[in-house]
Amino acid sequence: MSIKLFPQVDALLHGCDYNPEQWLDRPDILEEDVRYMKQAGINAVTLGVFSWSVCEPDEGDYHFEWLQEIMDNLYKNGIYTILATPSAARPAWLDRKYPDAMRTDSKGVRNLHGERHNNCFTSLNYRRLVRLMDEALAQRFGHHPGLLMWHIDNEIGCECWCDACRTKFQTFLRKKYHNDIEELNQAWWTTFWSHRFNSFEQIDPPTSRGERSIHGLNLDWKRFTTANAIEFMKEEINVFRSNTPDVPVTTNFMHLYPLLDYNKMAKELDVVSWDSYPRWNTAEQSLYETAAGDAFDQVMMRSFKKDRPYMMMESVPSLVNWHEFNKLKRPKVHKLTSIHTLACGSDTVQYFQWRKGRGSYEQYHGAVIDHLGRNDTRVFKDVEEVGKVLAGLSEIQATLINAKAAILYDQENKWAVEDAAALAKKTKKYPETCMDIFNLFMKHGVDVDLISSEESYDGYDVLVAPMLYLLKDGVADALKAFVERGGQLVATYFTGYVDKNTLCYLGGFPGDGLTELFGLYAEEIDTLYPKERNGIAFLPDSPVKGTFTAKEYCEIIKVRDAEVLANYTDDFYKDMPAVTVKKTGAGKAYYVATRTESDGMEAILKHIWTEAGIAVKKLPEGVEYHKRENAQYSYEFYMNYTENEQTVDTDGAGMELLSGREVSDSCTIPPLDSIIIRKRL
Ligand code: GLA
Ligand code: ZN
Repeated sequence: MSIKLFPQVDALLHGCDYNPEQWLDRPDILEEDVRYMKQAGINAVTLGVFSWSVCEPDEGDYHFEWLQEIMDNLYKNGIYTILATPSAARPAWLDRKYPDAMRTDSKGVRNLHGERHNNCFTSLNYRRLVRLMDEALAQRFGHHPGLLMWHIDNEIGCECWCDACRTKFQTFLRKKYHNDIEELNQAWWTTFWSHRFNSFEQIDPPTSRGERSIHGLNLDWKRFTTANAIEFMKEEINVFRSNTPDVPVTTNFMHLYPLLDYNKMAKELDVVSWDSYPRWNTAEQSLYETAAGDAFDQVMMRSFKKDRPYMMMESVPSLVNWHEFNKLKRPKVHKLTSIHTLACGSDTVQYFQWRKGRGSYEQYHGAVIDHLGRNDTRVFKDVEEVGKVLAGLSEIQATLINAKAAILYDQENKWAVEDAAALAKKTKKYPETCMDIFNLFMKHGVDVDLISSEESYDGYDVLVAPMLYLLKDGVADALKAFVERGGQLVATYFTGYVDKNTLCYLGGFPGDGLTELFGLYAEEIDTLYPKERNGIAFLPDSPVKGTFTAKEYCEIIKVRDAEVLANYTDDFYKDMPAVTVKKTGAGKAYYVATRTESDGMEAILKHIWTEAGIAVKKLPEGVEYHKRENAQYSYEFYMNYTENEQTVDTDGAGMELLSGREVSDSCTIPPLDSIIIRKRL
């Protein structure tokens, strides 16, 4: 059973960040805002982000009258509020009085006041003031009929090297290693370069001025940073859970944010939301390619909570102000990319920001309302059109994408791969490798989830685990169980080299028993120069046919009891195995020992999808496809990113929701447009 995110609204959300506190001296503008919002079909706004200096101009002096008035008025006009806590930017009085709230950089220098998103999450003063603010908000607005959800902070991010953070890190380690420094020395392999510690107090966080060579330390610091951010976030969440248990809580994530393990954070939230700012209409990529890159992020957000939709909390209807080149979205692109967001599983299309401010850093950042102040601009009309589209699609609320395949994308693995002094500096490309494989699923219209290695594999028939270098406890067993029960598993070169502490497995990679699952072990791994190529040739009796290019990494494997499907074509390892499969229980474990050009992996995946009974779609180039469903209907989304009309095979009759026409077996999509086919299940 899927969950309707906002039963009060009973519609998809069309929302925006709204900062009326910047316009309190302009009642005419505030009045105009509501009028224009209604015209644009805005049914929810996010209030309060960065409003601390207005909500509490001095310590303990709370001013919420303005917020009350705005919220009341919005609600009267049918517009709901997502109420944010203002913790992501601190007023000047706070930093002057409590300097420990300001973050310390990796050189040990404390920041001065200013900017935003730069607090120390450990600072007790900062945390106390945030808690008091949240209590005050919960009491004043927790039972407001217009309150839709709580939005914690904004784009939580961190790393602080202050003394308090160092001490807290030491406490974290003490707990993790059972107060036994010898256990830590073992886990971190500290006898190397004479790095043994006698006590937890001797440990500093990794920094460019000090220790960076202990991979276990580096990884534990990142784990600590995530744990500390979660602790802070939970403190905010708990205020609302205890005051308003029925109001859901979220915080907005960022695109592949490098410093936090979002998978762990997502578990603490009721709803996942995120901010999407791709470079639409760049010269370097086709529109389809940009959409595919964005789909990767959207699908990751969706996969954090598979039993409910997520929210696309921020996007821009025109341009941002922080890309290297701030290009306008071309005509039709806003509607197309908004539908793409829904297609990926979001129940919202929201913007940063409703109205451009007059001054400071974001004055030229795109918004629904420009400095011009008109409701007949190109951008406004685009937003209005999206408002109409969303209003007509209420029935897709709470529908889900039921993917039968998943790609393992694991943040701790990413950290470990990037930190490993191995392979080549510039071509490790763990995220890119996952994205290339994701793109193959997209190309063939196969919905796929992106999950961390410790998620449950239940419900999947195919699992692709690219470069799963670090094996957390239990992952190897879970992979074995997945194959035994009939799953098709694909692993690649650089799998299972290290355990959760980044200590190498002895006796053969992939470790922790996976050499048996794949029926082989890896003996060496060759790094190719950028222009160097090898190849793989599938054997005549292999179910996969052809010869394909290999690049960047070629692992030399010794096969024990796997079946060889392809051999290398060149170099001293010519005719040695490159792709293998081994049956175990009811399933199969494939090993692809080299990085192929995408057509090589595509050939392997096509075979696996067929074996797993996963239907593929024949899509014209430049068309994206996803399917959402509930118990009664399926909703098939096709987005045409090309400048030409495209015809798609719809695999049966249905109703096209955007035009209301019945379609039989095929349907045309105008250039830069989309269709949504509803079929009764
Ligand atoms: C982020 C922030 C917003 C705004 C936008 C600009 O996503 O959350 O406050 O700064 O970027 O693109
Ligand atoms: Zn700190």
